[in-house]
Amino acid sequence: MEIRRARPEDVPAIAAYTQDTFEWGDYVPDMIAEWVDDTEGMTMVALVDGKPIAVARTLLLTSNEGWAHGIRVHPDHRGSGVAAALGAPLLKWIRDAGAQIVRLLVEDDNTPSIRHVEKLGFRRTARLMRASRAVGDASANAEGNGVRRGPSPLRARPAKTQDAPLILASWMSSDIGRAMRGLVGEGWRFHTMRLADVEAAARTGSLWEIGSSWAVTAAIEPEFLVAMLETRPDEAYETIGALVDAANNRGAEQISIWLPAIDWVVQAARRTGCDVKPLSVWEYPL
Ligand SMILES: CC(C)(COP(=O)(O)OP(=O)(O)OC[C@H]1O[C@@H](n2cnc3c(N)ncnc32)[C@H](O)[C@@H]1OP(=O)(O)O)[C@@H](O)C(=O)NCCC(=O)NCCS
Repeated sequence: MEIRRARPEDVPAIAAYTQDTFEWGDYVPDMIAEWVDDTEGMTMVALVDGKPIAVARTLLLTSNEGWAHGIRVHPDHRGSGVAAALGAPLLKWIRDAGAQIVRLLVEDDNTPSIRHVEKLGFRRTARLMRASRAVGDASANAEGNGVRRGPSPLRARPAKTQDAPLILASWMSSDIGRAMRGLVGEGWRFHTMRLADVEAAARTGSLWEIGSSWAVTAAIEPEFLVAMLETRPDEAYETIGALVDAANNRGAEQISIWLPAIDWVVQAARRTGCDVKPLSVWEYPL
């Protein structure tokens, strides 16, 4: 088996065997052409008889935090150590690029992937929930969960840049921030939340004040993606309801919220009509 950096000529074979990786399909066929021209990360392939049978990617998210994703072993070659063979040079590459830690995200029911990352030496650092529901016209049930939910008494309003240090400090020491291990999810990638991230969110209208709670959005449309939420048990339901209202008002089709697996906040999300899916962030100090 040969392992090397992915090249443009590998794209068709990788796109072909990754079409139906999961029940919902896969994002790799859409991304692989971009990844082989990667300037911000490293995509490697494993080949047998010159044909790609595995792919994976790693990149730097901050000056010293790496991310790994997109590992796909051809179904005919699983269970024989290919993922482990591909993982080792990627970890070396990201360490040489300056990362002191590398993280990845795995759905909690993906047993092969969990076995694979445990064998490489990763440890589970945060148990998360992705809470999501359709909103607006895309929702068969705009008011949530079979129960009519009127607008929340709270409203999400833009927060000010000068509040950023307070918001960060409050979140870092709160139940939610500690259970998230201080990690913020931009899309599907997590890095340590920094003051600069909160200030940037404030400048771009993505930092929200909702009663005495706060949120950071990473995107608004078509998916209203809540990357960070800071709330408390007695306000969680109304806060999440206000975020659903904001998503509706801004024309989003879907709201998704990264939450830690803490019962009271997960229950609040369920009450607003969200489905929740358990995933974990795993990390490996380099
Ligand atoms: C996850 C994946 C990359 C693992 O690749 P692989 O080359 O089969 O992994 P390895 O051969 O190195 O095996 C890793 C471990 O998982 C175990 N394993 C493999 N398939 C398994 C299965 N179906 N159920 C349970 N364990 C399994 C192996 O036995 C091995 O553990 P062991 O050495 O203790 O026996 C591969 O299954 C895959 O491509 N899955 C689909 C895509 C995916 O889920 N990617 C990860 C998204 S986060």
